[in-house]
Amino acid sequence: MREAIANAVVGDEQRREDPTVNELERRVAELLGQEEAVYVPTATMANEIALRTLAEPGAELIAEENAHLLLSELGGPAVFAGLMTRPIRGDRGRFGPDEVQRMVRRTDATHTPPTRVVAIENTHNASGGRVWPLEEIQALVATCRELELSVHLDGARLLNASVASGVPAAEIARQFDTVTLCLSKGLGCPLGALVAGSHVLMRTARRFKHQFGGAMRQAGIVAAAGIYALDHNVERLADDRPGSMRLTTTSSASRTITPGRGGSQRDCERPAFRSTSSRSRRTSSSLTSVRSGSIRAMPSRV
Ligand SMILES: Cc1ncc(COP(=O)(O)O)c(C=O)c1O
Repeated sequence: MREAIANAVVGDEQRREDPTVNELERRVAELLGQEEAVYVPTATMANEIALRTLAEPGAELIAEENAHLLLSELGGPAVFAGLMTRPIRGDRGRFGPDEVQRMVRRTDATHTPPTRVVAIENTHNASGGRVWPLEEIQALVATCRELELSVHLDGARLLNASVASGVPAAEIARQFDTVTLCLSKGLGCPLGALVAGSHVLMRTARRFKHQFGGAMRQAGIVAAAGIYALDHNVERLADDRPGSMRLTTTSSASRTITPGRGGSQRDCERPAFRSTSSRSRRTSSSLTSVRSGSIRAMPSRV
């Protein structure tokens, strides 16, 4: 990966003249079964750009109560997209069409904020990296379509879900209007994420990327790491599963997850990437060794 970074061909990314960024965006769009992907520095920014693209301020976002979007982005949906957030109490990070039917606010009401976006997270970080079954996603998206709601997938670790479930990433991701994919998690890049969707949506997303300060210059330096990761590190995600299962089993012996934070007890159902315990956090962060101010070439696959 370090060699790929050193040899990257670069250009002005803001002007879309960086061939390495352009190639990464093309590869990820294809991988996700979407028309276009936009490279940004972080998955948080990708999520926020997606939400800003999908809905106007004053509208409402439905997401699971422990979704990264609601729990760990410092109120970003409100700050950057002006969205009201309505948390759903999920079961191990998941919720179904019935909950959406129950929560949705009709858009023709004169006083209430209209529900516009439903977001899900796959894998679901706060529940230990659990995977959404494909049929559940399909049923949820079908209901959202009936209700004319946009759907966003926070797929920061979508490739972990794909590897764990055996379902191609595109089959999962193409159902959504917008998708976030992160390169700095299990794929081992120093930074980088992408937001993907239709050409029309991504044209708007590129404007917000610039407005949010995410338009870069010679970003091919880091995009090269992303291409390297797609070529070399995706299949290796499968190696993480036995390790994460071991960590999960060990940590669950000394820890109970409270209801509403990912189920009553960790049951190793499908932790596709890692445990959220302090023990595993220490272990996983130690995989990305920062030595003398630089990141070692070893893929962290956290
Ligand atoms: C599901 C999910 N989405 C988004 C993010 C944000 O990623 P980043 O740190 O690149 O902003 C994370 C980070 O852990 C995450 O777990």
